[in-house]
Amino acid sequence: MGTEATPDVGVAELYLEYAHRWFTGNSELYRQWAEGVAESATLPELIAGLPAPKRQPNLVFAAARFHGCPDEPFGFLERYLRTHWPAIRSIIMGHATQTNEAGRCATLLPALAMVAAQEQRPLALIEVGPSAGLCLLPDLYSYSYDGAPALGTGSPLLRCSTTGNPPLPRALPDIAWRAGVDLNPLDGTDPDTVAWLRALVWPGQEERLAQLDAALATLAALKSGILEGVAGPPLLLAGDLNERVADLVDAAPRHAVPVVMHSAVLAYLDEARRSAFAQTIASLGCRWISNESFFMDASNQTRGGTDANRFILSLDGVPLARTGQHGAQLDWL
Ligand SMILES: C[S@@+](CC[C@H](N)C(=O)[O-])C[C@H]1O[C@@H](n2cnc3c(N)ncnc32)[C@H](O)[C@@H]1O
Repeated sequence: MGTEATPDVGVAELYLEYAHRWFTGNSELYRQWAEGVAESATLPELIAGLPAPKRQPNLVFAAARFHGCPDEPFGFLERYLRTHWPAIRSIIMGHATQTNEAGRCATLLPALAMVAAQEQRPLALIEVGPSAGLCLLPDLYSYSYDGAPALGTGSPLLRCSTTGNPPLPRALPDIAWRAGVDLNPLDGTDPDTVAWLRALVWPGQEERLAQLDAALATLAALKSGILEGVAGPPLLLAGDLNERVADLVDAAPRHAVPVVMHSAVLAYLDEARRSAFAQTIASLGCRWISNESFFMDASNQTRGGTDANRFILSLDGVPLARTGQHGAQLDWL
């Protein structure tokens, strides 16, 4: 979802690319806004004043909405950006697109269940790039695959359509420990952070917003100690995944099997850092679940997916499925 480093192209070209590649079919208002920026006489120059990695439309639009811009037609956005640019610019400079998508747990769950079945031990979940850690709570949500009765009783209820007859879990995995490392770990119980995470959900995606709110409520309940008999809230470290992942695997409780996972993260890394990560993972003796826009095996062979809106789910370097980027679709290979 536009998570790659922003290419150093002209602003109008960048916004048109996002309009067609990412927003069409996903957010009609963002498509109109992005096309509007591309055709505007003034906005491309304003946005070109940002450092290249900060020019991406989903960041600029989220910052405008976080500041208070309503979801109105492009003309309103254009005036709003011009009027409030210094404040919006500072929001852009101080924030990143750390979208946290609890819905991805629906596509991660079959891989987690495979590990649990193979290992017959609880899992120590270690997420690299967890944002606020919402994907570290898969045992606290509930799931309905292809409209079947819900597995689990937690909230949100995550709905997912499947093809290819995936091995759907019959029970939720036993999670013994949750941890993660992020360049900028977010506190999902802080009101400003919650407002930012909500602003990152594209206009018109009401189900994603409801899922986010429900997952944040579950995180808050976990942190307040209301939920009993489950592993506590995620331990989130600040740092680079390459530098801290080994510490986390080492810190996992001994009775649990360490599972390193990530989704929508590796596109932030250049080739050398991805390669270093694959080598580290291979040396750690942990299980490894990847859900990214490209497939990467343990020897760092990468292959792009054919559909920009799809991720590839893999376990220990073996591809299992193509997945909808927000977790609503699972196409088993
Ligand atoms: C798009 S978010 C995805 C969050 C979560 N994995 C999910 O699927 O909802 C990507 C996250 O990766 C983090 N990230 C990017 N590069 C990183 C790095 N080198 N080390 C640690 N975290 C990183 C970002 O800060 C951000 O929180």
